[in-house]
Amino acid sequence: MAPAPLKGILETIGNTHLVELDGLFPALNARVFAKLERFNPGGSVKDRSALSMLLGKIRSGELRPGRSTVVESSSGNLAIGIAQICRYFGLRFVCVVDAKTTQQNLAILRAYQATVEVVTDPDPKTGEYLPVRLQRVRELVDRLPDAYWPNQYANLLNPRAHERTMHEIAQALDGRVDYLFCSASTGGTLRGAAQYVRAHGMSTRIVGVDAVGSVLFGGPPGRRLIPGHGAAVRPELHDPSAADEFVHISDLECVVACRTLTIREAILAGGSSGATVAALEKLSGRIPRGSNCVLVFPTAATATSTPSTPTSG
Ligand SMILES: Cc1ncc(COP(=O)(O)O)c(C=O)c1O
Repeated sequence: MAPAPLKGILETIGNTHLVELDGLFPALNARVFAKLERFNPGGSVKDRSALSMLLGKIRSGELRPGRSTVVESSSGNLAIGIAQICRYFGLRFVCVVDAKTTQQNLAILRAYQATVEVVTDPDPKTGEYLPVRLQRVRELVDRLPDAYWPNQYANLLNPRAHERTMHEIAQALDGRVDYLFCSASTGGTLRGAAQYVRAHGMSTRIVGVDAVGSVLFGGPPGRRLIPGHGAAVRPELHDPSAADEFVHISDLECVVACRTLTIREAILAGGSSGATVAALEKLSGRIPRGSNCVLVFPTAATATSTPSTPTSG
């Protein structure tokens, strides 16, 4: 039976497909599933975080169409999620991005009528864009009347959204999720999934997937080119204990894994999805026979990943 009609585009957020990948690791005696977050209407897992951080404030009347301005710093996907919600409800959105944001994402944000501010100079001390972006957000929130900063790096409603992501996975597999591979940046997806697993007494082993050069799980900061997962500064939200173990994946490993995924499964996924594939491959020698392994794929591959300005950071 076809599903009943929904009331507006935002009701299509969540309930994404879980797809079995039986050609990805032919030698692995385990079942591998991917949670395809690309099927959210804004194209990524971050639609869930955006909705979770905004809907309560819109429903309570704290955010008022035509009067309030949402201000956020994002390298792309959360910004698209927020831009979609703000357009839907008639809220103004000022988005602070940086030179790593792709041309495609900038075009999408502008299509949703968001005001985009691109930070082009990194912080002179650290060489990172994030501190400059956050400073600009603070200035805007102080200056604009009726401004609200969801602050994805510290807002507990970000991980809360992903308790539902994990609930959907658990339901689809009748509660038998032996491994969850989840990439991290704000840590929202990872932390929310862990909260669900622990609250429901599940025995799922949660593997945090980080980028080489990211500081989330320790290790020195370094050059990273693939946007999405990893962080140059540890976000307030990030809870390292959310992961039972973590794996660092290089940019090259992401690219190789994305190619393998396309060739073996015809899934053209983003770099952070490839990272979870590479992480499973690294652990494959010790995954017990018959396990159910779930990989969270945050996005599809975008048509171009060219940053708006060439960058070394
Ligand atoms: C493409 C992509 N993958 C993974 C992540 C990590 O998600 P989280 O912020 O929930 O840790 C993000 C977050 O921005 C992302 O944009």
